[in-house]
Amino acid sequence: MAEPSLHLKKLEGKVAIITGGASGIGEATARLFSTHGALLVVIADIQDEKGQKVAESIGSNNCSYVHCDVSDENQVQGMVEWTLKTHGRLDIMFANAGIFNKSPQTVPDLNLSDLQHVFSVNVAGTAACVKHAARAMIDQGIKGSIVCTASTAASRGAEVRTDYYMSKHAVLGLMRCASKQLGEHGIRVNSVSPYMVATPLVCNNLNMTVEEAEASYPLPCLKGRALKANNVADAVLFLASDDSSCITGHDLLVDGGSKI
Ligand SMILES: NC(=O)c1ccc[n+]([C@@H]2O[C@H](COP(=O)([O-])OP(=O)(O)OC[C@H]3O[C@@H](n4cnc5c(N)ncnc54)[C@H](O)[C@@H]3O)[C@@H](O)[C@H]2O)c1
Repeated sequence: MAEPSLHLKKLEGKVAIITGGASGIGEATARLFSTHGALLVVIADIQDEKGQKVAESIGSNNCSYVHCDVSDENQVQGMVEWTLKTHGRLDIMFANAGIFNKSPQTVPDLNLSDLQHVFSVNVAGTAACVKHAARAMIDQGIKGSIVCTASTAASRGAEVRTDYYMSKHAVLGLMRCASKQLGEHGIRVNSVSPYMVATPLVCNNLNMTVEEAEASYPLPCLKGRALKANNVADAVLFLASDDSSCITGHDLLVDGGSKI
């Protein structure tokens, strides 16, 4: 990835946490943040080997890997405290870690323990990240930016994956409440809602190769194009940086016109 020239670097001196940063959209965002001069990007994930490799390839001076299962609030709190202790500040939280079930989860066949598992990561995990980032930013008087990963699934229904669709609707509710409540501290909270990206989340669960997934889900209005993790990272960078300094409570669709 070509480095932007100095005056185009958008995150100079900022400390950012990216959950789910070992793979897919989180990994692409970690790489983009570091090219934009972030002082430190903390990759928080449960895939230790992958996360460490990504952090090493970005460079140990400005990227660290921390094991953190976001469904465990104590681990989220510990990871945020480690970031503050080691690097003195937290400017950006990208609460991005998410999962979905292999089973179809239609309403008549809903498996509620699978549903709870999805909610423990996508809803409670995202809420824990927003909560502890907000506390850290308030304590430090930092007018930070929090970005959550929702989905085009956050504002429509579907024939399958009821639990995943429900969980992403909840992420939008969290983002909207947090933006209302944290605005008085100058903290902005927004979300990105990607259409299908052929990451391991999609390919492993649908048993498809990247090529098959991209061919099955082209962008609705942009003929011949498939959405890539880098395209979502660009949207996250916009929301994380001062380019969006007056935008809060906004869900930014990265969907090639899926709702038109
Ligand atoms: N790929 C898509 O089509 C798509 C579309 C819309 C939204 N999303 C959302 O984007 C986000 C990122 O997904 P992706 O597509 O990059 O998938 P991915 O599988 O490539 O990355 C997800 C990362 O989250 C990590 N993770 C899972 N559970 C975790 C936990 N409990 N604690 C910490 N980390 C955990 C995984 O280890 C993985 O590294 C998810 O929230 C997903 O729901 C993806």
